[in-house]
Amino acid sequence: MATAHFAARWRFGLIIALGLTAFSLAAVSLASSRETADEPSQAERPLDDRSVLMRRKLDHAQRILGGLAERKFGPVARSARSLQEISEVAAFYNLPTEDYRRFSNEFRRLTKTLAERAEAEDLDGALLANVQLTMNCVECHKYVRIQTKPLDPPR
Ligand code: HEC
Repeated sequence: MATAHFAARWRFGLIIALGLTAFSLAAVSLASSRETADEPSQAERPLDDRSVLMRRKLDHAQRILGGLAERKFGPVARSARSLQEISEVAAFYNLPTEDYRRFSNEFRRLTKTLAERAEAEDLDGALLANVQLTMNCVECHKYVRIQTKPLDPPR
């Protein structure tokens, strides 16, 4: 009787333990599927919001810097290609000005060069393209701010 009682409790405990394991596995796989959802794969996820696109640009820019720093050309080339694709999707948000189009074209040209230099495992060439690309990011933002927001009064 006492043994049966013990066995029942043991079984109950086992069920709880299994349940908890399943639950935490589900939580982990949910978390990692969310992580993969953040992976920039334009084909699966049509991108809508400019903010999201730009955050992805930043994410890729950081991966590129990391890749260059560690001399890992694969991630550099992949992120440069992704930036190129994002720029094509983001064309929808372009300001209708000649200057903005110039920044955009420059961005696409530089991401292409960067990808090609990385694929050729040319570290210096890739580094140079990335410096130019970073300047392009900042210059376009400067331009957009001047276009959309009057400058603050001098202090
Ligand atoms: C051709 C122009 C252009 C280029 C090039 C460009 N951006 Fe942007 N970016 C924009 C515009 C437009 C916005 C929106 C600004 C606003 O609404 O105030 C923006 C906003 C952002 C934001 C803020 C997003 C938010 O949270 O709202 C980030 C981050 C960003 N860009 C990253 C980058 C990075 C990194 C690069 C270069 C790899 C880059 N951008 C290149 C036009 C550009």
